[in-house]
Amino acid sequence: MTKVITYGTYDLLHQGHINLLRRAKELGDYLIVGVTSDSFDCERGKLNVRNNVLERVEAVKATGYADEVIIEDYIGQKIDDIQKYDIDIFAIGSDWIGKFDYLNEYCKVVYLPRTEGISSTMLREENQNTYHFGIIGSGRIANRFVPETKVVNGAKVVSVLNPNIYEARLFAKTHGIEAYSDFDSFIEKVDVVYVASPHLTHYEYVKKALLANKHVLCEIPFMLSKAEALELHGLAEERNLVLLEASKTAYCPAFGHLVTLIKSGIIGEVVDIKASLSKMVVPPTRELDAKQAGGAMTEHAPLTVMAIIKLLGVDWKDVNFHTKKESGVDVYTKGIINYPHATSSFTLGIGVKTEGNLVISGTKGYVYVPAPWWLTDYFEIRYEDQTKNKKFFYSYDGEGLRYEIQEFLSMIVNERRSCYKLRRRESVAITEIIEKYRNGENVIEI
Ligand code: CTP
Repeated sequence: MTKVITYGTYDLLHQGHINLLRRAKELGDYLIVGVTSDSFDCERGKLNVRNNVLERVEAVKATGYADEVIIEDYIGQKIDDIQKYDIDIFAIGSDWIGKFDYLNEYCKVVYLPRTEGISSTMLREENQNTYHFGIIGSGRIANRFVPETKVVNGAKVVSVLNPNIYEARLFAKTHGIEAYSDFDSFIEKVDVVYVASPHLTHYEYVKKALLANKHVLCEIPFMLSKAEALELHGLAEERNLVLLEASKTAYCPAFGHLVTLIKSGIIGEVVDIKASLSKMVVPPTRELDAKQAGGAMTEHAPLTVMAIIKLLGVDWKDVNFHTKKESGVDVYTKGIINYPHATSSFTLGIGVKTEGNLVISGTKGYVYVPAPWWLTDYFEIRYEDQTKNKKFFYSYDGEGLRYEIQEFLSMIVNERRSCYKLRRRESVAITEIIEKYRNGENVIEI
């Protein structure tokens, strides 16, 4: 019996896939089709897949050509599968010519003619609405945001708003978009809004954008008070709009997988989390300006506290802070968040340097994410018995903002108003901790 194997995503199954599967089946007696898992696609940068893995498996089965369907979940799996299933022929479309020659060592490799004029990408683009983004603010993060939208289907930045029209024009010229200094003219021309303005303006801009019925992606720190965060999430809900905190780490593939693994008990019960983030800044800069709500807490707590809250939840018992201030701004803050059955701490610096790693300790083992853990692409699970240690590698592409943009658009398209990667209550809880610090609750100056 000749056994053939082929792989693909098979999103929005089309005639090209059907032809390929028929040709592959004709090469032998038994055809195994490997369908990529959602997380594997995400890891390899295929962010826009429409059908989930179960739908894609069903579609492949419905063609009637596959004798067996398996899931492809990791790099290097093809070699494992070929040996495990005793495969004679590996078949793939001619768009991959040469790319799989390395498998010749294990079986025969056949490149089958690809059907011209159709692809999942084409179908996705045809069915895709384009969402016109307006950016509020034209600083560093806004500059990094624009190129990231280019890799997400359906995202197009069309304009920027800055009350200082000269700055708006400069930004607009760099990115080939329109410049506005007036909110009302700006908001008319956009479908969705990305708020990347100074911290203290987030509340007002998000509220105005929601009142204009626009979905909003808001940079961190999302809000500076719990009441504001609750109010705006409530307003978005009332108007059936998406309001998402742009906590980039929360949406990246590696961090998502890390959370899932820990929740499934791989290190036992989580007892302690230590998260650090330090980035030195050079004056003059808004990070060191008290009048602009600068400081290590407002800059870095949104990501570090997010990691703690994702893993230990929102029901903490008490929170306290030790902080070093200069000219009214915290250049270093260490916070402790205690839970009934766990403790956690975060250390944040903009004028003090520390190692920026994340360590999650459990009753069976611990997870180590090296600095910069907030750009997660690699982590290790370590045990007393070192032979059981595991290393996990992922891609973290570009500036990493593409994952939040993708999540934001997917929520709009699929009419999801809440996102499991960062729940609204988690976003509110992060804000509450920042607010406690800013109100001086349990804060000791060193
Ligand atoms: N394929 C084909 N003819 C097409 C499209 C795909 O023969 N017009 C083949 C590919 O070469 C591959 C298999 O179908 O062997 C699965 O490909 P997949 O990547 O899932 O499909 P694409 O339509 O190419 O998807 P995308 O546009 O997302 O890359």
